[in-house]
Amino acid sequence: MTPTDFLWGAAASAYQIEGATREGGRGESVWDRFAATPGKIVDGSSGEPADDHYHRVREDVALMRELGLQSYRFSIAWPRIQPEGRGGASTNKGGLDFYERLVDLLLEHDIRPFVTLYHWDLPQALQERGGWVNRDTVERFAEYADTVSYRLGDRVHDWITHNEPWVVAYLGHVTGQHAPGLTRPDLYLRVAHHLLLSHGRAVPVIRSNVRGASGGGKVGITLNLSPVEPLSGHDEDERAAVIQDGLLNRVFLDPLFKGAYPADVLERQPELEIETGELDTIAVPLDFLGVNYYNRTIVTMGPNDQPRTTTRPEENYERTAMGWEVYPRGLYDLLARLKRDYDPPAIYITENGAAFDDTVGPDGAVRDPRRVAYLEGHVEQVVRAVADGVPVKGYFAWSLLDNWEWAEGYTKRFGIVYVDYATQTRIVKDSGRWYQRLIAGEGMGL
Ligand code: FCB
Repeated sequence: MTPTDFLWGAAASAYQIEGATREGGRGESVWDRFAATPGKIVDGSSGEPADDHYHRVREDVALMRELGLQSYRFSIAWPRIQPEGRGGASTNKGGLDFYERLVDLLLEHDIRPFVTLYHWDLPQALQERGGWVNRDTVERFAEYADTVSYRLGDRVHDWITHNEPWVVAYLGHVTGQHAPGLTRPDLYLRVAHHLLLSHGRAVPVIRSNVRGASGGGKVGITLNLSPVEPLSGHDEDERAAVIQDGLLNRVFLDPLFKGAYPADVLERQPELEIETGELDTIAVPLDFLGVNYYNRTIVTMGPNDQPRTTTRPEENYERTAMGWEVYPRGLYDLLARLKRDYDPPAIYITENGAAFDDTVGPDGAVRDPRRVAYLEGHVEQVVRAVADGVPVKGYFAWSLLDNWEWAEGYTKRFGIVYVDYATQTRIVKDSGRWYQRLIAGEGMGL
């Protein structure tokens, strides 16, 4: 049985849905710059206009209400608040007003806002000063977190500092598939460390700004985690799995929950400089851990002692349009491991979902049985984990709307609501209706 206070929601992020990138005093973000660089986005598109959510907030919140969502996880675009990457006099009041209006609409409809402060859209002005490679960005983040949480802290009680720091550090600075597009493997740990440090600096600031929440504000961080399995039982594959688990999972979990980086990760990047007190800052106790789960990771040992991700074709699991294996059991395995190794006080599944090539049928409906099966399969594993004592307190489907999927542009649809980008029409997919029934208590016996 799922506890009755369990929260059902959907998630989105600013750059993927808002559009209006040059309106309301918003400054340029690293993603505007990256998307404008030829060859970086498969369809040459950008987050303009995305879902035009900036102008359609009222309609989109009404849709959430119709679906019965109890919570909505969204992110704040840092360059809407600090167009020049600085606070003080250059803070953009219009940006704060926009999010306050969104929050008020949510609260009017009884939808609990979960706010993510950083879902990858760094002000370009800060990138010009080195971005996350520069230690100063840590302080800039703490200042930004202060401004936003002070303004919204009387009505938003649930806060997430970062979304998926691995993606920023690895895809943004090692492979260059994401903004800012650097290809500097030597910077991986330094960027990860600065992201974690900025999290640790922001947590007490946010807590001190939340007002009127019974039991105080709740602050956490969202990680993209994945259970790592060796391709085979060979020693080298087993070793590859340990290394990969370190670089993907433990590199964030250990400092957050144990106050130290894993020794095997540090060995691979010995140049990381850690100042006195920084590990204590990172290990500030969390109210919850946010978990984004999409698939498991299978690795084999590749050249130069580098783990290489691979698949077991003989197992022949279904794949999504992203090419990601559908493996619900991995979510249970992950949750059980988190409880065993880190014992977080609470866990929210802050993202889980799948892209498929949805189309609108002749009757105007969007039938997406594979997404229904995906969501159902994963929710079942959450229910199992809760029954086994893992403190999962909520589940957010990724995503409310089809949206701009980063380097994949508009080619991948993750929504439980279909968006016709030409007209900005929203059509609730079958999966959206399924989710609506689940929340209303008719589905899966919950
Ligand atoms: C996650 C991101 C989210 C979305 C999904 C598919 O890594 O947090 O913005 O792109 O993947």
